[in-house]
Amino acid sequence: MEYSPYFDPLLETLSREEITALQLQRLRSTVEHCMHSPFYAERLKQCGVSADSIKSLDDLKRIPFTTKQDLRNTYPFGIASVKPEECVRLHSSSGTTGNPTVILHTQKDLNEWAAAVARCLWMVGLRPYDVFQNSSGYGMFTGGLGFQYGAEKMGMLTVPAAAGNTKRQIKFMTDFGTTAVHAIPSYATRLYEVMEEQGIDPRTDTRLHTLIIGAEPHSEEQRRRIEEMLGVKAYNSFGMSEMCGPGVAFECREQNGLHIWEDYYIVEIVDPETLRPVPDGEVGELVLTTLNREAMPLLRYRTRDLTRILPGECPCGRHHKRLDRMKGRSDDMMILKGVNIFPIQIETILLQFEELTSNYLITLETRESNDEMTVEVELGQLFTDDYGRLQELTREITRRLKDEILVTPRVKLLPKGSLPQSEGKAVRVKDIRKHF
Ligand code: COA
Ligand code: AMP
Ligand code: ZN
Repeated sequence: MEYSPYFDPLLETLSREEITALQLQRLRSTVEHCMHSPFYAERLKQCGVSADSIKSLDDLKRIPFTTKQDLRNTYPFGIASVKPEECVRLHSSSGTTGNPTVILHTQKDLNEWAAAVARCLWMVGLRPYDVFQNSSGYGMFTGGLGFQYGAEKMGMLTVPAAAGNTKRQIKFMTDFGTTAVHAIPSYATRLYEVMEEQGIDPRTDTRLHTLIIGAEPHSEEQRRRIEEMLGVKAYNSFGMSEMCGPGVAFECREQNGLHIWEDYYIVEIVDPETLRPVPDGEVGELVLTTLNREAMPLLRYRTRDLTRILPGECPCGRHHKRLDRMKGRSDDMMILKGVNIFPIQIETILLQFEELTSNYLITLETRESNDEMTVEVELGQLFTDDYGRLQELTREITRRLKDEILVTPRVKLLPKGSLPQSEGKAVRVKDIRKHF
């Protein structure tokens, strides 16, 4: 493998024994550091775990899982292991109706996050002479600043195009000689279709050769279609805000599983019902323990993402374990246009309108290569049939939903009794998106 400042053979090709020894040493210091977190100090005391009592990685199992609910309960800073004044940035999830989740970062965290992303970008063959365009949302979306700092650290010319305005994205690509783009898979299709409308052939009219795709589940077939359409190699990128953002696990050039950086994380796969470990090769919920975080280490964090560890070694020479592409979630979180949405967020907003009943249906579908959400909701008895008032109400519900979930739904108000009544637990979400 080619040496570079961003490919560290010492860390990337560690043997299993070396990875285990490094993880044990970093787990001990993480647990020691967690004693500064009001939340973890109490929790570690309750389960009787201290840094000194950790003799092997198996001792990790003595510590209870950390959940998203723990992050919400300790909102905003109660789980952090340093004081907010020692931090330089925070990222928060969307939502105004409940407690969002907040992730704090020190400067060291940001530096190491950027280094992890740079490592991933180098791994897929990008080099400082490449031009990297990022179509992620910036601000709180970690795909924005996460890729920005990683790509800059690697030395690439970066184009922080941000989300939306597809024609402008394409103009940037042709004018600036963009060679690599980060886009969510459904948006990659949109990019191609707008190029087609404009008579632009990505193979001859652009210098594109690499796409980084992630943030939402996609199939192998979808990846191959994207590669074919745009004439690129497309690499799967996995991350989440709780673990900083992108840079957690990434495909290498073998495109056969995502290497999860085990010098940064301890990986467990558990049965989401029993919470017992499942053997390598079997699907379960991904649980991660951070090993290098300063502001906000997380111990045994339940990601709710379903995947499996691919058995066997990768021909690329890296021994860091490989995750299979994500198979779904063990909770009801939806991902639309790269934005995470919980049905309860929608329900909470709808319930704030006295004109509405609690009977609603969310449909996710693909229209003209755009993923869209339709929210159908039944009107209550007292409702007027004044058309103007109906329109005004629809606009107001749409605006309030957009504020909450960050994407714009199509809202349809229906007469009472129009939606199917299901026995037992009502089916609230229908996902009929078509991605090939
Ligand atoms: N990335 C980039 N652009 C996107 C996108 C995405 N995930 N989803 C939609 N868009 C584009 C649309 O194509 C449209 O542009 P166009 O009409 O020029 O083609 C524009 O954004 C607005 O989309 P629309 O669907 O009308 O808006 P919305 O109000 O429902 O959604 C977004 C608003 C797109 C700004 C919001 O969904 C968003 O910020 N998504 C990006 C999330 C992200 O970056 N996630 C990655 C985290 S790692
Ligand atoms: P966020 O915290 O907004 O970055 O969202 C993180 C979530 O996005 C993860 O927990 C996954 O559910 C999803 N996600 C991120 N990357 C991928 C990917 N490559 N494939 C499938 N889902 C992904
Ligand atoms: Zn590999």
